Amino acid sequence: MANRLSNDLSAFWMPFTANRQFKKEPRLFVGAKDMYYKTHDGRTVLDGTAGLWCVNAGHCRPKITEAIREQAGELDYAPAFQLGHPKAFELANRLVDIAPEGMNHVLYTNSGSESVDTALKVALAYHRAKGDGSRFRLIGRERGYHGVNFGGISVGGIVANRKMFGTLLTGVDHLPHTHLPGKNAFTRGEPEHGADLASELERIVTLHDASTIAAVIVEPVAGSTGVLIPPKGYLQQLREICTKHGILLIFDEVITGFGRLGTPFAAQYFDVKPDIITTAKGLTNGVIPMGAVFVSSEIHDAFMTGPEHLIEFFHGYTYSGNPIASAAALGTLDTYREEGLLTRAAELAPYWEEALHSMKDCPHVVDIRNIGLIGAIELEPIAGEPTKRAFSAFLKAYEKGLLIRTTGDIIALSPPLIIEREQIDELFDKLRDVLTNNI
Ligand SMILES: Cc1ncc(COP(=O)(O)O)c(C=O)c1O
Repeated sequence: MANRLSNDLSAFWMPFTANRQFKKEPRLFVGAKDMYYKTHDGRTVLDGTAGLWCVNAGHCRPKITEAIREQAGELDYAPAFQLGHPKAFELANRLVDIAPEGMNHVLYTNSGSESVDTALKVALAYHRAKGDGSRFRLIGRERGYHGVNFGGISVGGIVANRKMFGTLLTGVDHLPHTHLPGKNAFTRGEPEHGADLASELERIVTLHDASTIAAVIVEPVAGSTGVLIPPKGYLQQLREICTKHGILLIFDEVITGFGRLGTPFAAQYFDVKPDIITTAKGLTNGVIPMGAVFVSSEIHDAFMTGPEHLIEFFHGYTYSGNPIASAAALGTLDTYREEGLLTRAAELAPYWEEALHSMKDCPHVVDIRNIGLIGAIELEPIAGEPTKRAFSAFLKAYEKGLLIRTTGDIIALSPPLIIEREQIDELFDKLRDVLTNNI
């Protein structure tokens, strides 16, 4: 047996990472507090991305840390099937309290990907429970990101995440994406053009017949593909078409959930009520893996039939509602409540928007988009080398003490919701330096 050094980097095959590049020039975080990371070489890095869109309350927050510590010493694990523990129920009640009205029930998962696959299964099973089992089709959207499990990549629309993995789920179709750079470039907030793209759902319905379609899933704001903000009226139209045809509407709020837009959920921001909402990330401030799927009473109640000793829905995870995850989520919700973080993005949004759009004159910038505390700067790709310009901006920014996220040639920004105005200034000063002098 080979004895490996603990600092040998080869054994860990890193996720969504250029492994060979990373292992030549490792970037390791060894500590974090509030808005800043500490690197292995002793530098401080401003977190411009809330980790991976998840650390909404900032890093190492005492309520969350303490809740985890206490729970680990009191009840470490309780079986999730046919048994329970109080915090999972307490948490579900707290979640339902902040969710859009009518979202009265919660299923727990361990990640956004699992939340998505859970939601798709709930949608299929719901129609069957109602005796409408011919509704088996699932409709996603081009450029959509719904995690990496088979359901999620099937309804997802990011080619690189799909093309290696065979036939995926059958019976899936896709709406067109809503990115119209020719018409909407440099829009602040929701773009004017493109609401009519929702009517593509009517075309899909005509093609397959509504009686075969179970659900439509979209991110209210598409995040991972590089921040695509829904055109004004688009989500309302999707809702109307779904309702008209008896199709469930699923909002994937893994990024937008828990305050990112200045309301607890994007459904409230856009005033559009989906039938199912998927969440994860900000639920526990990213600290412990956990997701939650919200469903309406109508969906939940459709399952609550038959003899009472029978399991109503054959689905769940060993760690559904895990005690330590539940405690972390409760500590997170306490922190959000005490500091008003679920609505703080609304106060900061105008300042954020102004600072973000001041980057317009930097070299290679072809579009800027924003909503809530989300921003995107799209760069012109280097001819023949797509993604390289943004990736080199990412590396330079990291060197200069700023964490950004890039996807394709788009820089995505989504800082913790505790960010102060001076830190917004710091973020864009650093980024301006990177874009102007370094790529
Ligand atoms: C909208 C959306 N859905 C699902 C996921 C997958 O979440 P996870 O990485 O926790 O599986 C993500 C992750 O970024 C996401 O943005």
